Amino acid sequence: MQIVHDALPDLDATDVDLGTSFLGRKLALPLVISGMTGGHGRALAVNELLARVAEKHGIAMGVGSQRAAIRDPLLAPTYSVVREAAPHAFVIANVGISQLVKQDREAALGARDIAQIVSMVRADALAVHLNYLEESVQPEGQTRARGALAAIAALARRSRVPIIAKETGAGITREVALRLRRAGVKAIDVGGVGGTSFAAIEALRAAAQSETARMTLGNRFRDWGVPTAVAVAGVATVGLPVIATGGVRSGLDAAKALALGATLVGVGRPLLQAALRGEEAVDQWIAEFELELRTAVFLSGARRVGELRRAAIVITGASKQWIDQLGYRRVGVRASPTRR
Ligand SMILES: Cc1cc2nc3c(=O)[nH]c(=O)nc-3n(C[C@H](O)[C@H](O)[C@H](O)COP(=O)(O)O)c2cc1C
Repeated sequence: MQIVHDALPDLDATDVDLGTSFLGRKLALPLVISGMTGGHGRALAVNELLARVAEKHGIAMGVGSQRAAIRDPLLAPTYSVVREAAPHAFVIANVGISQLVKQDREAALGARDIAQIVSMVRADALAVHLNYLEESVQPEGQTRARGALAAIAALARRSRVPIIAKETGAGITREVALRLRRAGVKAIDVGGVGGTSFAAIEALRAAAQSETARMTLGNRFRDWGVPTAVAVAGVATVGLPVIATGGVRSGLDAAKALALGATLVGVGRPLLQAALRGEEAVDQWIAEFELELRTAVFLSGARRVGELRRAAIVITGASKQWIDQLGYRRVGVRASPTRR
């Protein structure tokens, strides 16, 4: 997909406003560091570094699944360090859908556990990650999903922070987003195909455990799901804020996702890899992201990043086929590039 170039933008590049608001809060950039870490040795330093960066750049940050800290409270500091290092950032707590539904060998988390998960990072929102593809490939995966939507609805009713439904690499369709909206979810992270593949990661883990059938399953399903761009196009029509995650690798990727209707983009692995190199590497990644995004907004003739969703775009290839066949239409858009 391409954003159509505007050869005569009626503004200075420096006038471009990249600020946005998400669930009632202002962010300096439409970027969230996707929830990844917590619960193990290196997580403390990585989370602290990423949180410092989030605070400094005015962006949002999620933490990884907090199940580990509910099982072992000694691990709580690997998460709570985020709030200490980022007292003003928008911080997103994280729990897996499998922890909300009773599994064969594990009870569902109770109201007190959930309150603890939120208070551990003094969260501004709670992400429920949907990862049935990953669970399906894991030898020890938790695939009891009956009642999952009802569990999300119950959580949304009693939660004092907004609930974000967050896929982790297989994408969310418009239909699922509508069910989530009815359940009381306040934002959707589409987590589509195109970035980190948990099927592939679990295939590697299965191989290491000599679980051949699971390894084959993971490899066969490595690209299963809805591509990120398609998921954004579909979910953006539902009326909830959308986070585009899954393969966003640059400010230009972000501009395209925002043009398709996303409110924010989520970036996982590239920021984790940069964090392992040090704070300077993360700062540099974000500076490049910002410059590219600013350039794309400028060259589309928009003044504010939120106006990208009205920019003229051309969708080609497989994305177009997906979008056409699923019947998705872009919201609030004039089809013609001669919009002014
Ligand atoms: C090492 C690692 C750990 C992750 N752990 C979690 C997790 O605990 N909870 C969650 O919701 N997502 C988790 N994710 C998924 C990310 O939040 C994100 O959706 C995914 O990595 C896709 O983005 P990317 O292509 O930019 O990496 C993890 C990703 C990575 C790379």
